[in-house]
Amino acid sequence: MSIDYSQKIPNNVNLAEDRTLQRALEQWQPNFIQWWDDVGPEGSTDFQVYLRTAVSVDPQGWAHFDYVRMRDYRWGIFLNPADANRTIHFGDHKGEKAWQDVPGEHRANLRRIIVTQGDTEPASVEQQRHLGLTAPSLYDLRNLFQVNVEEGRHLWAMVYLLQRFFGRDGREEAEALLERTSGDPDNPRILGAFNEKTPDWLSFFMFTYFTDRDGKFQLAALAESAFDPLSRTTKFMLTEEAHHMFVGESGVSRVIQRTAQVMNELKTDDPTKVRAAGAIDLPTIQRYLNFHYSVTIDLFGADQSSNAATFYSSGLKGRFEEGKRTDDHVLKDQTYTVLEVKDGKLAEKQVPMLNALNEVLRDDFIKDSIAGVNRWNKVLEKAGLPQRLTVPHKAFNRRIGALAGVRISPEGQPVSEAEWNARQAEWLPTDEDRAFVASLMGRVVEPGKFAHWIAPPAAGINRQPIDFEYVRFG
Ligand SMILES: [Fe+2]
Ligand SMILES: [Fe+2]
Repeated sequence: MSIDYSQKIPNNVNLAEDRTLQRALEQWQPNFIQWWDDVGPEGSTDFQVYLRTAVSVDPQGWAHFDYVRMRDYRWGIFLNPADANRTIHFGDHKGEKAWQDVPGEHRANLRRIIVTQGDTEPASVEQQRHLGLTAPSLYDLRNLFQVNVEEGRHLWAMVYLLQRFFGRDGREEAEALLERTSGDPDNPRILGAFNEKTPDWLSFFMFTYFTDRDGKFQLAALAESAFDPLSRTTKFMLTEEAHHMFVGESGVSRVIQRTAQVMNELKTDDPTKVRAAGAIDLPTIQRYLNFHYSVTIDLFGADQSSNAATFYSSGLKGRFEEGKRTDDHVLKDQTYTVLEVKDGKLAEKQVPMLNALNEVLRDDFIKDSIAGVNRWNKVLEKAGLPQRLTVPHKAFNRRIGALAGVRISPEGQPVSEAEWNARQAEWLPTDEDRAFVASLMGRVVEPGKFAHWIAPPAAGINRQPIDFEYVRFG
């Protein structure tokens, strides 16, 4: 399954044998490059970056590292190898052969799923485009660019499916993916979290920890799909996604490490003093966490959804690790607990599990997220500090589903509108928090040097030293 880099569009899908598709994608390619130049990483065109590029999709080949000039980066189409005997293992078609083409009756739903996933990929590149100007180190700058080029490739992965399997509609959707813009009031990205700003590196690390993890769970659910090309492409995307979450988890961890060090040196937990010493105080980190966590769990959609039931029963989208579950994989008579607001209080309610599959995936995400937050707390514990970070209650600050609009504290207590307004500044980042974090952001690009507010990483990339020249300018 090696990748043909002699082609205009590197690929392992025999693109040269499908002239119509090749022509359609080659027509889209300059529009993609134009989009990248317009809203991709600012000022990076001539940088040479020590990047990971796939040369094949097997374990030896997909993590090939070398300097690449950003202008010359080759985005391509890489699918995991096909398994000729793959069968569908959930829903009404359980036991049947996986589909190599799109069944007519599922065309509209599959297109919608692919477009919604595809839309998140360029959105995050747009959200992160100015961060290179304030990178805390060369190591971090390289990681940012690695994430950005791979999100660009994830867009290619979805556009391949649209153009290959959805005819004219697919071509129109591929163009529209380059036309919507994150945060544009007239033509925004599809999902809320992808229209928020990522204005500073603490936001970037929280985003890659929480929001790229939403990506992991969505991709894992799509990797189960009966539509085999979607399954194969999302499986390969998942290998790349793991690095994005590593950037987030280790990034936040290093911020906490520096903060803990400053707190110990000054023997204080006073946010004002921590800030004056140039580190980010723990309450601010907690508020950023609360924000990114709550906007990310909205991405899983409404707690009860007939679409979610249809997607599952028709085999379009499975559950996280469907194959590891021991139930009947049809779920017709099962129920699941969701939350509702009753007489001003949160109450549990049993609903048909098929309708609650968004909630099932959200709960899997929550479990996975908490594991990493516990690892952050280990940093505090090791520093001998009693403070701990927590994820807020899942009803906190929600905008989607049954919990949208109800005012719930991070501890899960219903609060009045007046109390919400009075205490919001304790719970979510304030303009003042954001201005303080912004004031710390400066550009550090000398090899081995790090901005004061963040500790160096434990190790370099691909076993290179920490002071390696990860980015060469010009
Ligand atoms: Fe992605
Ligand atoms: Fe990602």
